[in-house]
Amino acid sequence: MKILFDQDVIRQGIEQLGSNLRREYGQNPITVVAIMTGSIVMLADLIRCLDMPLRISLIRASSYRGGVTSGDLHVEELERLDIQGRDVLLIDDIFDTGKTLVEVTKHLSSLQPRSLKTAVFLNKQGTSQVAMEPDYSVFKIPNEFVVGYGLDYDDFYRNLPFVAVMEQADLEEHSRRLEPNAQSR
Ligand code: IMP
Ligand code: MG
Repeated sequence: MKILFDQDVIRQGIEQLGSNLRREYGQNPITVVAIMTGSIVMLADLIRCLDMPLRISLIRASSYRGGVTSGDLHVEELERLDIQGRDVLLIDDIFDTGKTLVEVTKHLSSLQPRSLKTAVFLNKQGTSQVAMEPDYSVFKIPNEFVVGYGLDYDDFYRNLPFVAVMEQADLEEHSRRLEPNAQSR
């Protein structure tokens, strides 16, 4: 796999985001809302770069099964979201079309947080279909499909400690080894 960002580069990027957020929030308590599952690795690393009092809430954003439009997203709260009057930082793994972040932001805003900012690990260039931009992006990437550091292909590769481009040869290797009923192991 072609590596885009290795562990050292990622660590520096997350530390930089942490330092920007420490400047933004100071010692004000915040609630970090993380969109499952892609942002778990970023969440774990980022919160250890933050020193204000903080709480974590997990949500899931999934496309409606059999939904009519591709942008139909369902926001599932994995516990009751208690964010009214709180300073909220929403994090996600990647900003691609932007539809996920727009929908989740709408949902969170309806719960009346005191403030709401967004931070994504990766920001894909040239693919946005929305007017909004994340407040913070750790890295910009070209329009390629990437895996690792939480990002998946068919739910695999989230555990890679680096970010890599999933190229045609990697896709073929994947279907040979990891698709259900794959012949060779
Ligand atoms: P958006 O709603 O189009 O911005 O999509 C965001 C979601 O699409 C992310 O949370 C990812 O789950 C998925 N996604 C988009 N691009 C990639 C990629 O290059 N690799 C892995 N997942 C991706
Ligand atoms: Mg995903």
